[in-house]
Amino acid sequence: MTASSVLEARDLRRHYRVRRGPLRSVRTLKALDGVSFDMRPGRTLAVVGESGCGKSTLARLITLIEPPTEGVLRIGGTDVSAADRGSRAELRRSVQMIFQDPYGSLNPRKKIGTILEEPLAINTDMDRRSRAEAARDMMGRVGLRPEHYGRYPHMFSGGQRQRIAIARALMLRPGVVVADEPVSALDVSIQAQVLNLMMDLQEELQLAYLFISHDLSVVRHIADELLVMYLGRPAEQGPKERIFERPRHPYTRALLASTPRVEASARTQRVVLKGELPSPLDPPSGCAFHRRCPFATERCARDAPVLREVDERLVACHYAEDLKPWPSEAPAPS
Ligand SMILES: Nc1ncnc2c1ncn2[C@@H]1O[C@H](COP(=O)(O)OP(=O)(O)O)[C@@H](O)[C@H]1O
Ligand SMILES: [Mg+2]
Repeated sequence: MTASSVLEARDLRRHYRVRRGPLRSVRTLKALDGVSFDMRPGRTLAVVGESGCGKSTLARLITLIEPPTEGVLRIGGTDVSAADRGSRAELRRSVQMIFQDPYGSLNPRKKIGTILEEPLAINTDMDRRSRAEAARDMMGRVGLRPEHYGRYPHMFSGGQRQRIAIARALMLRPGVVVADEPVSALDVSIQAQVLNLMMDLQEELQLAYLFISHDLSVVRHIADELLVMYLGRPAEQGPKERIFERPRHPYTRALLASTPRVEASARTQRVVLKGELPSPLDPPSGCAFHRRCPFATERCARDAPVLREVDERLVACHYAEDLKPWPSEAPAPS
């Protein structure tokens, strides 16, 4: 393992047994099907992909809410599956989560001070005074004012509530923070403020972020590494610069092309993906993307591509070396 990684995921899988159809037969839904990565202090891994590709499932595994069906998860060098109860609890505290909805995630009946001190009261033997001190210190770090200590969540704007949620996640000084769409419920004008705050805190506290987003313009701002997922599997993975500069998986190309705030250089052409996202209960043969891919061949329908290194990133496409121009659509009538 790399000395500097705080979290390592190796071939993580999460399969669900679901009952479907008139005979209620049991089938396997592969919500996550083989994902590996390393997270490092002060670095952000962004996970992107359409709804249903397994992003939240991955978040639940990383935060130890659910165990993986297969694969290895190591936090701070410790294999989570081999840890005893005590060290599992400790590992759980070292990975904290920030949710999308700053309204639903804060208890409306509790004052901000109480919300921030609660994790300390439950998990540490700090006395009342030092808990209050720690809460006030954290409020300052996230840009809240001292008089906010005694106020209730409903007295705050969406952006401020997300600051409170961030403060709460950091009270136990985690090494890893999982943020599932943390700014997508906020006004665009507020998004940048919260993202900048997250980046400042990351630098200051050397946090490793797993940042889940469907918005590539947000990801471009915050990510170091990118993991592009399609139906529970990585399509393309590697340094953000490489992938934004020259995406090699047709799915990544389509995602980037449909992101309005990404520079024109990455948006070579307007791209329209045909068809719907297939059901993970009934994934296509071969490459799961082939029915929507304008470059798909017989081989793509037959053989699943393995994730392999091409041009300083990993790509799961048989034709990753061969970047053809996207077939042009009929021009829209003006
Ligand atoms: N507990 C569960 N039982 C059965 N299927 C699930 C469960 N959780 C998630 N799924 C399925 O797994 C797939 C991935 O879901 P999810 O991780 O929520 O995707 P995302 O967050 O990218 O939208 C979806 O098809 C979803 O319906
Ligand atoms: Mg989700």
